[in-house]
Amino acid sequence: MIVPGSSAQTLAAALAAETGRSLATPTYERFPDGEGLASVPEFAGDAAVVVASTDSDEAWVELLQLQDAVREAGATDVTTVVPYMGYARQDQAFKHGQPVSARAMARAVSTGTDRVVLVNPHEPNVADYYDAPTTVVDAAGVLAAPLPDLDDPLFLAPDEGATDIAETVRDAHGAGETDFFEKHRDRDTGEVEISPSDAPVADRDVVVVDDIVATGSTMSEAVEVLVERGAARVLAACVHPMLASNAVTKLRRAGVERVVGTDTLERACSAVSVAPVLAEEL
Ligand code: R5P
Repeated sequence: MIVPGSSAQTLAAALAAETGRSLATPTYERFPDGEGLASVPEFAGDAAVVVASTDSDEAWVELLQLQDAVREAGATDVTTVVPYMGYARQDQAFKHGQPVSARAMARAVSTGTDRVVLVNPHEPNVADYYDAPTTVVDAAGVLAAPLPDLDDPLFLAPDEGATDIAETVRDAHGAGETDFFEKHRDRDTGEVEISPSDAPVADRDVVVVDDIVATGSTMSEAVEVLVERGAARVLAACVHPMLASNAVTKLRRAGVERVVGTDTLERACSAVSVAPVLAEEL
């Protein structure tokens, strides 16, 4: 059975349809003191696929509870799919005394599963932090499908680390160039500075591609530069549309025409599902 966490219900349903597996209906309750209780009252069978994006501390706890609940209900084989893995950006201690949060979370999740599947974690090396066998899925190619027709497109990564994703989307689109900007983020203030590449953008359609849009600082800086340089249209595409706080407003003010994301996080811009890519791994 596919067992959805509360933050991945649409994706879990799509995955159930894609794989022909039945879809469990967990309940997500909360005690008066705030503690959560995620249960699987009608779980049946030996194999469980728990699908949960961990975009909040509550979601991490819910995931651990669902893993335990399916074991209690008789599952002997548990696969844990984490479409969006929170804390993946704290993959090292950046200052003395900080935790490696990604490792701490990975260890906890590993205790309740036989296998883990991650979708485009911010740093692929976080897969090594899991004690259970872990597969990393690159689902960026699905972002090409919801893009409109593009004129002389440039697929631009807002930093060098996102170049592979930009190339994946360009390849799935079937035409266009790729390039990247240089980015510097002040870790104390979070402010982002972008150093433009020399790529000609005037009168071209530009798709800025990143693994995640979180605060929107990176993407909106990139979009502003492109608009100033005369790009015809600027679109934003990301695997994980976190879009925290005022990110959508920042992007709109910067001049983005459209934001396209997947359903690893369920947002208004989640225009395409990663379910077909995940189904190949199950
Ligand atoms: C950074 O390396 C990532 O690829 C993203 O560019 C970054 O995490 C996005 O964060 P924000 O939206 O807060 O700028």
